Amino acid sequence: MANTDSWGSRVGLILAMAGNAVGLGNFLRFPVQAIQNGGGAFIIPYLVCFLLMGIPLLWVEWSMGRFGGRKGNHSTPFILHEMDPKRAMWKYIGVFGIFTNLAVAAYYCYLESWTLSYIWHSIAGSFNGQTADQVAGFFSNYVDINTTTTGIPFEPIVFWLICLALNTWILAQGLSGGVEKVAKIGMPLLIIFGIFLAVKAVTLTAGENGAINDGTVGLNFLWTPDYSSIWSAKVWLAAAGQIFFTLSVGMGSIHCYASYVKKKDDIALNAMSAGWMNEFVEVVLGASIIIPISIGYLGIDRVVELTQSGGLGLGFKTLPYLFTQWGPTLALIAGVCWFGLLFFAGITSSLAMGTPVMGFLKDEFGWKHKPAAWFFGLLILILGLPTVIWFPSVFDEYDYWAGTVSLVVFALVEIILFAWVFGMDKGWKEITTGADIKVPTIFRLIIKFVTPLFLGFVFIMSLPGIWDKITDTSAPWQVHASRVLLLVLFLTICWFVRVAYLKRKAAYKTTHR
Ligand code: PHE
Repeated sequence: MANTDSWGSRVGLILAMAGNAVGLGNFLRFPVQAIQNGGGAFIIPYLVCFLLMGIPLLWVEWSMGRFGGRKGNHSTPFILHEMDPKRAMWKYIGVFGIFTNLAVAAYYCYLESWTLSYIWHSIAGSFNGQTADQVAGFFSNYVDINTTTTGIPFEPIVFWLICLALNTWILAQGLSGGVEKVAKIGMPLLIIFGIFLAVKAVTLTAGENGAINDGTVGLNFLWTPDYSSIWSAKVWLAAAGQIFFTLSVGMGSIHCYASYVKKKDDIALNAMSAGWMNEFVEVVLGASIIIPISIGYLGIDRVVELTQSGGLGLGFKTLPYLFTQWGPTLALIAGVCWFGLLFFAGITSSLAMGTPVMGFLKDEFGWKHKPAAWFFGLLILILGLPTVIWFPSVFDEYDYWAGTVSLVVFALVEIILFAWVFGMDKGWKEITTGADIKVPTIFRLIIKFVTPLFLGFVFIMSLPGIWDKITDTSAPWQVHASRVLLLVLFLTICWFVRVAYLKRKAAYKTTHR
């Protein structure tokens, strides 16, 4: 088989998988979700979701990936098909594992490209001496591609293209030569930058450099439990959604990375190492930067108001201004650390989103590695363009359908396939083969009963929200058009899967005649 890429080392694999999980979601999404959903009390549903859905799904997806890879499959349509070859539908369910990655990458890479531009502006000192409104206005001008007041003509497009080219080029270098190298450099740097910023944030002192609160005020606020929220379905949905997004489960990218693991190599411990590393980065570092710094300078009320519009505003409008309060040198260092950290978090995730479609083209249509990578870049260019032009409406729409709904649907169906169709006996063997830890037996029951029920529950609870979204006629035409585009994308992949399947059948017939 032509598709023979593989991981160079165990550390590289774990860092790449951790890089896949650790993303913009850890630093921009998590703290805001926590504040909006009960602060310290949010962590209870969040941890329950991690234990009962996150961990089981990590093991399930890693083992499905390694299982599929053993038979030469590196993307979910045929990994799922291999688990129950008799039924035709699985390969179409597996389309989610390519679709979601493409649709998420389409808006994610745009966001990622802002971090490059902001690294540049931090070095150039663009924010020094500006007022808070000016720094916030800078961002609004930036994402409005019709105004060019940031200094570079068509700046968001320029950085977006650079970012896409960079992703494509790294993907073209292969797993061990590209993705793994970036993870080995990016992840340690990200952690160093994160620790530096977290220490600065937590040790902020009221009265110094214009701060009005100690850094601990923000931390306390974030972690003050509001126990009344625990009984709200909305909070549980938010917790589940965050667990999915941050761990990258229900996406298909874990399957793909794991399909390049050798057949007797451990997955049980590797999955836990990458998963827990993500949790450390999210709960410890993610919570200790953006919120303590903004509350330190702006106070609780103002920050709560700013979080209403999500984490992007705080990260791109507020923090760069607050950094300038530390004087030009520290502002430069802090800016490079913050946007550098976001960049590494972002790119190690977007690379993961590129691999499933490449694996599919290589497996089924005999594509070479490099053209497959460039094809991914081209697809993201086409699919991402509407999110760039119509930011934020189309951007949010992609995030909703691909980054939220699809994950739950795919996770629910794949766990049923794994635990009930493939069967827990075989499934458990897949998880524990080559394992370097003893997987607690209780997880057999959890995977078989608890996770599917829990996921079914989450799915049913989210139906009213989906219905409201579909029946909301006030959405502008661009939003409707983007839904059609996503649907067309999904159906096109289905069609390619069908073609691939017919090709496989024909090849099977000629070899077995
Ligand atoms: N887990 C990533 C984050 O937290 C997002 C991601 C989505 C990564 C899809 C890979 C695939 O930002």
